[in-house]
Amino acid sequence: MLLEVRKLTKYFGGLGAVKEVDLHIEEGEIVGLIGPNGAGKTTLFNLITGFYRPTSGTIRFLGEDIVGLKPHDICQRGITRTFQVVKPLSKMTVLENVMVGAFSRVISKEEARQAALQELEFTGLLPKKDLLARSLTLEERKRLELTRALATRPKLILLDEVVAGLNPRETEETIAIIKKLSNRGISATAAVEHVMRVIMSISHRIIVLHYGEKIAEGPPQEVARDPKVIDAYLGESYA
Ligand SMILES: Nc1ncnc2c1ncn2[C@@H]1O[C@H](COP(=O)(O)OP(=O)(O)O)[C@@H](O)[C@H]1O
Ligand SMILES: [Mg+2]
Repeated sequence: MLLEVRKLTKYFGGLGAVKEVDLHIEEGEIVGLIGPNGAGKTTLFNLITGFYRPTSGTIRFLGEDIVGLKPHDICQRGITRTFQVVKPLSKMTVLENVMVGAFSRVISKEEARQAALQELEFTGLLPKKDLLARSLTLEERKRLELTRALATRPKLILLDEVVAGLNPRETEETIAIIKKLSNRGISATAAVEHVMRVIMSISHRIIVLHYGEKIAEGPPQEVARDPKVIDAYLGESYA
């Protein structure tokens, strides 16, 4: 097993953002993490990647306890993430941004450049490589972040709201890239708030968070019919 999370809990003062969540990810698996705004998806990613320390619970990656490790160390071990709010290094070019990711794995500039070029080709961003990151559209910035994350050569990538704000064509393109991750043996967990249909179509398994708790888990078709899940979503949209 790649990742095994047990009874993971994070309180901010009296607020339980993540409560006793169990989660496991297998190699090459694509897992959809869905839940309304505030459900705890981003917090869960922050816990797994070492940005927050859990209140309680365990996180094991490739059999080793990673709680307490710094984000950089966790990245070295093979977990990386993208951020809900994308923030590329705006005064650097696209290529340089991706090289920053690659430097977590390689030492020489030339190796980093080669690795970055390969990932840019994989995500289709190669034609933009010499542009300044700040001149990119939202879609391209999201794509850049994904490319930079891939350049760290992850075994598991956590994608936070990867398709939020994208139009249908851009969404399809991003989905195609995520599907290809599996072929490279990279596992992915994609957190999404409102694009149920999209995540249903690419995930091997779906996990539903609601007020910090896991309320459902299973194959996409099963989860979509689950009354608890339907309630959680209707509750949100009528609120
Ligand atoms: N750093 C923080 N300090 C205090 N409360 C937080 C912090 N981060 C998240 N929260 C709260 O935790 C809950 C879960 O938030 P979040 O993980 O961002 O949900 P999601 O990503 O599913 O929308 C929310 O109520 C949010 O306000
Ligand atoms: Mg979030």
